[in-house]
Amino acid sequence: MTATDLRDPRHSPPWGVFVTGTDTGVGKTLTSACLVRAWGAAYWKPVQTGRALEPGDTATVADLAAVSPDRLLAPRHTFQAPLSPQAAAALEGVGITLEDFRLPTTGHPMVVEGAGGVLVPLSDTTLMIDLMARLALPVVVVARTDLGTINHTLLTLSALRTRHLRIAGVVLNGPANPDNRAAIEHFGGVPVLADLPRLPRVDSAAVTCLAKERIPALLSVLP
Ligand SMILES: Nc1ncnc2c1ncn2[C@@H]1O[C@H](COP(=O)(O)OP(=O)(O)OP(=O)(O)O)[C@@H](O)[C@H]1O
Ligand SMILES: [Mg+2]
Repeated sequence: MTATDLRDPRHSPPWGVFVTGTDTGVGKTLTSACLVRAWGAAYWKPVQTGRALEPGDTATVADLAAVSPDRLLAPRHTFQAPLSPQAAAALEGVGITLEDFRLPTTGHPMVVEGAGGVLVPLSDTTLMIDLMARLALPVVVVARTDLGTINHTLLTLSALRTRHLRIAGVVLNGPANPDNRAAIEHFGGVPVLADLPRLPRVDSAAVTCLAKERIPALLSVLP
């Protein structure tokens, strides 16, 4: 797959990537911050849940990527409960529809972060993968490195393929596991574009370092 393949002429600009993961808490926000830092991108989390318990991923990316406020787009939906978007929205009497979402035009590449994984419900009739198909950006899949990741990653790739979404590749987050890495590339038919090590501290210095050292391979396949 070439950089030209990954750039969708219907979105030129805006262009960018959709960062999804095999699960919640797998490192999507860390990966997004590294991408924003390395690429000078703008960041958008279309649906943020769990605001009752934490400041949200947009604030985390602002801290980690040291990004100017004009490159941070507000979520389209923010919910208090740490539940799936569908359940959190229902508690607040809100129904999410796909028409709520339009990829913002910022003049910068966009890093869009999902909530949870690809089959997380947004409503009774829609899943996160439907939003991904609507936005039509190439997808970066963030996965753990440890036991169980082959199955979770291959299932995620398989779901993306059923919707004909373009897959830029996989980012592996955690202690190096060469066997799992090789299996994901072999059975998944996609490259592992970056390996993020376990960090002693997750802060902007660490993100700057990862953005310099680990992300260029990922950026090389993007427009
Ligand atoms: N490589 C790493 N080294 C150390 N800590 C990490 C690493 N990757 C992620 N973490 C920590 O693990 C937690 C979850 O990571 P992160 O927020 O990036 O996951 P996520 O997939 O974005 O989660 P969510 O589904 O809530 O958006 C955070 O506290 C983050 O700082
Ligand atoms: Mg996140």
